[in-house]
Amino acid sequence: ENEVLQQRIEAVRKELGEELLILGHHYQQDEVIEHTDLRGDSYQLSEMAAKSQACRTIVFCGVHFMAETADILANRPDRIEARDGRRVDVLLPDMAAGCSMADMAAIAQVEAAWADMSEVIETEQVIPVTYINSAASLKAFCGRHGGIVCTSSNAKAVLEWAFERGQRVFFFPDQHLGRNTALTMGITEDQMPVWDPYALEMGGNTDEQIEASRVILWKGHCSVHQMFRAEHVARFRKEHEGIQILVHPECPREVNDIADVSGSTGKIIQTVQNAPAGTKWAIGTELHLVNRLKDEHPEQEIHFLSPVVCMCATMYRIDLTHLCWTLENLRDGRLVNQIRVDEETTKWSLIALERMLAVK
Ligand code: 13P
Ligand code: SF4
Repeated sequence: ENEVLQQRIEAVRKELGEELLILGHHYQQDEVIEHTDLRGDSYQLSEMAAKSQACRTIVFCGVHFMAETADILANRPDRIEARDGRRVDVLLPDMAAGCSMADMAAIAQVEAAWADMSEVIETEQVIPVTYINSAASLKAFCGRHGGIVCTSSNAKAVLEWAFERGQRVFFFPDQHLGRNTALTMGITEDQMPVWDPYALEMGGNTDEQIEASRVILWKGHCSVHQMFRAEHVARFRKEHEGIQILVHPECPREVNDIADVSGSTGKIIQTVQNAPAGTKWAIGTELHLVNRLKDEHPEQEIHFLSPVVCMCATMYRIDLTHLCWTLENLRDGRLVNQIRVDEETTKWSLIALERMLAVK
């Protein structure tokens, strides 16, 4: 059955040629990755969308916030002009491919938090930073309030950018990426209160805690990376002499602190590629990527850091059936599952995204 789907997908790719660009995130299943034109981490995929020129349609094999970002960046005013007024349509093969972390921060909650904290600190001096894993409305909030977007590959440079412009940072939705990054900059945990959107007052903090803050962290997390534990690291170190621990910064502090390397999916791949044969790794990130690395690097010894399966159920929703359905409809002139961010949100979120793309 898969073989038939593969052939049907390839037939549409061949027919549409350059008009079609299929992008895939590293967490996609192998069988989907095989049909992508380009793959990358969140930052690389944003750049690919921002540079897209020849294509008419981007089919995004990833999750909803990534497709939104692609729609915004592929349709920047200068890109549309360079294409003689033509927009690029972005399609997400399954609309249920969301991100549980992105869902942990709704724009109304972020706005309410901002209003609450303005009672004890000057919000003109607070730079909002949203992890790219967030709805476009949160990126727009950052654009409106002098803030910026970050990914796991540039979080430190982005925080430095923010501290050149304000006294404090309000970081959402991933507390772990925010905390792990700020710790590398000498900011201590007592300067990082966690804002719980469901708490009755001040996100569950005292006024003094908010006043003493340098980074206010949103109480959000990735359900996949939350499952890696310090005891998993300890067990590998004990049982496999010389093993290197490689994790994603969405992992909790206890894990991140004791890892040898921490970085985006792009950095994880690069680190393995650059290591000499025989290197032993225990990797703490989404299962499909770790399994692919195992297959591609038989010369190294690669283990999955957790004893239980940690996979991203929403990334996994993109499969050959949905991809084929999307592509065949496209070939027949029907746009299914189009992701189109409204004009006002696009305008403001683009400001925050462009600030990020300008940070080196
Ligand atoms: P990166 O690919 O940017 O490291 O992001 C990981 C992730 O969780 C995507 O949802
Ligand atoms: Fe969201 Fe985590 Fe899945 Fe990435 S791995 S899409 S952060 S739930």
